[in-house]
Amino acid sequence: MKRRSFFKLGAVAGAVSVLKPINGAQILGSSFEGKSEGPIVLSTWIHGLEANRAAWKVLEKGGKAIDAVEQGVKVTESDLTNRSVGIGGRPDRDGHVTLDACIMDEQSRCGSVAFLEGIIHPISVARAVMEKTQHIMLVGEGAKQFALDLGFKTAKTPLPEVKKEWQDWKKENKDLFKKPEINHENHDTIGMIAMDSNGDFSGACTTSGWAYKMHGRVGDSPIIGAGLFVDNEVGAATATGLGEAIVRIAGSHTVVELMRQGYTPTDACKEAVKRIISKHKDLTNLQCCFLAIDKKGNYGAYSVYSGFNFALKTNSEDKMVDSEFDRNW
Ligand code: GLY
Repeated sequence: MKRRSFFKLGAVAGAVSVLKPINGAQILGSSFEGKSEGPIVLSTWIHGLEANRAAWKVLEKGGKAIDAVEQGVKVTESDLTNRSVGIGGRPDRDGHVTLDACIMDEQSRCGSVAFLEGIIHPISVARAVMEKTQHIMLVGEGAKQFALDLGFKTAKTPLPEVKKEWQDWKKENKDLFKKPEINHENHDTIGMIAMDSNGDFSGACTTSGWAYKMHGRVGDSPIIGAGLFVDNEVGAATATGLGEAIVRIAGSHTVVELMRQGYTPTDACKEAVKRIISKHKDLTNLQCCFLAIDKKGNYGAYSVYSGFNFALKTNSEDKMVDSEFDRNW
């Protein structure tokens, strides 16, 4: 896969801060934060740049964050060259491209789909689950039937070139339980979080998941609290990387709760990463990354390994930012 170009971190302050006391205790944390005074949209990996620009078209007109994040990640879902999101994604080990997505708004309403095949925009199906049903999550054939009933567009998957790649992979890979490499070369999920001009938050998260996963496997991305969490009183967080590890600590919810307790976004993400590290004996290829924003417009990220970056769009900025990390890849 072609190496992409990366952009260096812009103006970010590094300092030590004393955070708000929790239960009488003072927390000493390092702050490494960016800040936006107005609307802001953040999303994971380089594919986030284009996605953010679509989201920004909504935000700059004073539109709602929920509309921005849906429009944003739809760009990535319909990018046929993307191998980890949407219908261009890699299949499971049985040759099925199964898509996972979730969305959450400022009222803590949420919708999710998982193990969905052949639908071009899983994120919009997730939004329809949120808005048109009494449920939060639909999976598999039920989710597909719901999407078809609503007239969502379909596509045949895997794409021919992706199918060929999978067939070659099958010939060479007998160890079906090998962990995937999740880094800046193969990218991953798009998780997008936004604050609109009203100060309201929403988020969206969508993926084709772990390439060549077991048939039926679902990762963190459609799980509210794991791949994505929004609490309008506090902020929003999203995750990318090895879903199994992120689910194990309810990652995005953990980040938001830490921000509620006074952690900066970067420190909240860092604490979640530390928790993942502490719960895994083998960290080989175990890349997990968190991205967060708080109510004041502070944002930050942290990952287990180097290589994670995120796209940032505000009134004055449109760029990639390198995440802080625990260790070198
Ligand atoms: N984070 C995406 C997945 O594990 O499916």
